[in-house]
Amino acid sequence: MPSREKGDNLALTTCPERRRPRRLRHLAGIRSMVRETRLCRDNLIMPLFVCPGTGVRHEIQSMPGNFQLSPDLLVEECRELAGLGIPAVLLFGIPPTKDAVGSGGYDPEGIVPQALTAIKAACPELVLVADVCLCEYTDHGHCGVLHDGKVLNEPTVELLVRSALTYADAGADLIAPSDMMDGRIGRIRDALDGHGHRDLPIMSYAAKYASGFYGPFREAAGSTPRTGDRRSHQMDPANAREAMREIELDLEEGADIVMVKPALAYLDIIRAARERFDAPLAAYNVSGEFAMVKAAARLGWIDEARVRDEILLSIRRAGAELILTYFAKDVARVLP
Ligand code: PBG
Repeated sequence: MPSREKGDNLALTTCPERRRPRRLRHLAGIRSMVRETRLCRDNLIMPLFVCPGTGVRHEIQSMPGNFQLSPDLLVEECRELAGLGIPAVLLFGIPPTKDAVGSGGYDPEGIVPQALTAIKAACPELVLVADVCLCEYTDHGHCGVLHDGKVLNEPTVELLVRSALTYADAGADLIAPSDMMDGRIGRIRDALDGHGHRDLPIMSYAAKYASGFYGPFREAAGSTPRTGDRRSHQMDPANAREAMREIELDLEEGADIVMVKPALAYLDIIRAARERFDAPLAAYNVSGEFAMVKAAARLGWIDEARVRDEILLSIRRAGAELILTYFAKDVARVLP
């Protein structure tokens, strides 16, 4: 390479036609050839909500196009998603009754095991991801065992382990603990290994922030805490270095895939995690991120499809391979 002379920069400013990034933007064909990041169906995971009954299809108001579905209709939905080439679904359960210790979350006959069995039979090719947390199953709406208004770590981990084993036995292909208790990945890993599930991977919600963006989800899953919030276990939005420690811990404990959540307000965390760790990285484009786009589009203020694609691309560009998104179905319909 010839060394650059001082005069080069001057030459460039006086001959601007030499440097014309627009040359690569005129033709759609060339734009496509030089495109650095692409969305692809293989990256998508569609979250779904399963509720008791038959023939139930209850739309979640703040998440248009998303439903609480009974197992029979959930299976139909999964057939459609599989037909669109979506590789994976993430299951959340809405139990018929809730109690203080979230028993519905580890009942072998519970709503998620029922759904897992039914979907496995109908769509064996679909990867079934089971979210593990107790907040959908407790009557107080907290993620675990409550004592004096505090979520207790160790007793909660015991129940999460039971939940993970229940879902594993029911046919889950990937276990996704979303609770943010300390040490749960290691404990779940040991329990899976000890019960014949050595090859079952864990996708850990490793850097999960205490976020206002979960609002619509809590309507969808009926999991709004009756009192207080989740700041005692979910992360402070101000912290980035702490996210690296959380991810490191989960990888040490045996997580196979690590997740950053939410996605859009945390693209810097996704980028930092991608640069620092080699493990597959997922990002959760959460309910509030979805609802904002839908709401603005309904008001005619933004072009939904363009903004959706831009957001999903930004998550890929930041460095996440996998995207959990309520847009999965919409976007799979239009991907080439
Ligand atoms: C906890 C859980 C939550 C979400 C996924 N798993 C809610 C919470 O932590 O309060 C939120 C997902 C979303 O907002 O889309 N079980």
